[in-house]
Amino acid sequence: MKVSIIGGGGLVGSCTGFALQCGGVAREIAILDVSAELAAGHALDLLHGGPSTADQRVTSGSYEHVPTSDVVCITAGLRRQPNESRLDLINRNTDLFVQILDQVKSAGLKPSAKVVVVSNPVDILTYVAAKRLGLPENQVLGLGTQLDTIRFCSLIADHLAAPPTQTKALILGEHGDSMVPIWSTATIGGMPLEKYPGWNGNTANQIFTRTKGSGAEVISKKGGAGFAVGIAIRDVIESILLGSDRILPVSTVQDGCYGIRDVALSVPTQVGACGAGERLEIDLWPKEMQGLRNSASALRPTLEAVLKRIGM
Ligand code: 2OP
Repeated sequence: MKVSIIGGGGLVGSCTGFALQCGGVAREIAILDVSAELAAGHALDLLHGGPSTADQRVTSGSYEHVPTSDVVCITAGLRRQPNESRLDLINRNTDLFVQILDQVKSAGLKPSAKVVVVSNPVDILTYVAAKRLGLPENQVLGLGTQLDTIRFCSLIADHLAAPPTQTKALILGEHGDSMVPIWSTATIGGMPLEKYPGWNGNTANQIFTRTKGSGAEVISKKGGAGFAVGIAIRDVIESILLGSDRILPVSTVQDGCYGIRDVALSVPTQVGACGAGERLEIDLWPKEMQGLRNSASALRPTLEAVLKRIGM
């Protein structure tokens, strides 16, 4: 199965290519970028590592790769400034993103192709892509809060010196300021978090606040996030390629889950060969449910403004 990464010359896109190479599931990784030289450079660098990773093809180029791609991942976009919210970024990125969508559409997508949106603000752009690309909406997914979820788990695990792979705690809603921590189902090795040795509820807020600010924190330290974003994207893309039906918090256009409609945000979603499958309404505390509804409300005004601005 072939994965094309639009914006593959950038930090997020190239880290995605490396994560997919290390994952070994994709049979071909195509690095697409407006800078052909940068795309070719990253592709060559990845190619060199092939003998010690997986039997994959690594190529580069532009939209000519789209018609033969099983997954098209769109990471292209300008990065936030440290003090800029993702929603502020919208106007700068919308025009670029719409041009990309239209070039993808005119290049021609396989009817079965899935599109994974990463460009920010990802929930807004996922909605635009789902409505504009002409694919069934369940074949368009946004990275959503999968990145926030693994950041959240990493910080909880780090705080408790617990095994990160056994630390399970969800973030749902907007990949942005209104994201919602789901403490009610948080566990470590199957044990409820509040019973785990060393857990102190007083640090919960501090850990969530740091999770929410992680994107800006990494930007301020190194200019932009790449490694964890690539890993989160690999989680989503490999679940599609393998047909794993993993339950992941990815962003899709909602049609009633938790009573939320006509906005894209992250709820627990089966991710498999069809793209987004069932959305699972896991039990939430009332304040978590309210947080999710607040997320939808926070996104809607910007979504409506963007749709109006681009004439959709
Ligand atoms: C982040 O949170 C890039 O939005 C992504 O770092």
